[in-house]
Amino acid sequence: MSPLPHREGFASAFQRDDGHVWLNCAHQGPLPSVAADALAEALRWKLGPYELTAEKFRTVPERLRKSLARLIGAEPDEVILANSASYGLHLIANGLRLEDGDEVLVMATDFPSDILPWLRLQREGVIVTQLRPRGHVLEPDEIRDHINSRVRVLCLTWVHSFSGWTVDLDAIGSLCRDHGILFVVNASQAIGARPLDVKATPVDALVSVGFKWLCGPYGTGFCWIRKELLARLEPLQAYWLAMLSADDLARSVETRLPDQVDYRSFDVFGTANFFNFVPWNAAIEYLSTAGIAAIADYDQQLIQKLIDGLDGRRFVISSPRSGSSRSTLLVLSDRVEERNTTLYERLSAAGIHVALRAGRLRLSPHLYNTNADVDRALTILNEG
Ligand SMILES: Cc1ncc(COP(=O)(O)O)c(C=O)c1O
Repeated sequence: MSPLPHREGFASAFQRDDGHVWLNCAHQGPLPSVAADALAEALRWKLGPYELTAEKFRTVPERLRKSLARLIGAEPDEVILANSASYGLHLIANGLRLEDGDEVLVMATDFPSDILPWLRLQREGVIVTQLRPRGHVLEPDEIRDHINSRVRVLCLTWVHSFSGWTVDLDAIGSLCRDHGILFVVNASQAIGARPLDVKATPVDALVSVGFKWLCGPYGTGFCWIRKELLARLEPLQAYWLAMLSADDLARSVETRLPDQVDYRSFDVFGTANFFNFVPWNAAIEYLSTAGIAAIADYDQQLIQKLIDGLDGRRFVISSPRSGSSRSTLLVLSDRVEERNTTLYERLSAAGIHVALRAGRLRLSPHLYNTNADVDRALTILNEG
């Protein structure tokens, strides 16, 4: 294996002097130092609210939209600001106004955010079919087998939170296109650790949280919707700051709905959410400047180091060991499954933080981790 290109990765951009090893980015990513500085600046504005000018109300969301658009190859206007992945999924599920007898396909073992917004529509007669994958995630042929003239939407996670397997967006998206089915993708476990160009990928809508691989605060997220789909969505809200600015209140304005539905009709309320969006934007700008391709490469070398270093006689790796379906989520189990809980506790006691999901260990390193972090985890795992 070739040595890591950056000996310490990107770790110097993060504050980490407490001896802990965070290998659970699939749960939460840490804030980079530039984002902590940006948050301190936003706090300063709130300490003296005269700093919270109309210009800041405008530029904070504007900058964030630009940063997110750059990340996924979209236009800034097309980015809808959110507070979660669920926010965007609800916009789509509810805005589509699906009717009695329309069908939505989801994966039964997917993260609940991808299933629940559609299940709610069952009350209106919408059929929600939860497909159980043959392996870890759905393959195109399994989806093809369930396509019929009623199916309107397929909603899936790009990288599956529980297994670490990656769904083939190109193959599944093309299949959906061929059958006029909308493909809605949750990229929460991938954006920031894997490059994506929505213009070149057959997806109709993409949602993501901001607090995992994008290293933003909790309560951040976004949604991108292809223009053709936007035209089919009904906004179920009318937010004043999406139509007016604080400056407009200085004049007397006539309050009325805009003539046309546009992307802004869908933004989360509080688009200038200073404490969350200012540091989140700084984190995204940092990641983009470092380069998502370089970060992805670095992350994959950490994953490879973990795979190479694990005692193969003791552990079974159930996430992909190689290839394009491998992600930054490594899922493994002691051959004696009951030992996983003890191992998890031993790792935690040593300040090494991983996740225990459905009885298996999930390790998810990102750019802030180093070779030394991986070595520390391997030592405990192999000797445990
Ligand atoms: C794939 C996926 N989607 C969404 C979430 C979180 O959902 P939300 O932001 O809607 O609370 C997680 C994990 O927390 C996840 O793994």
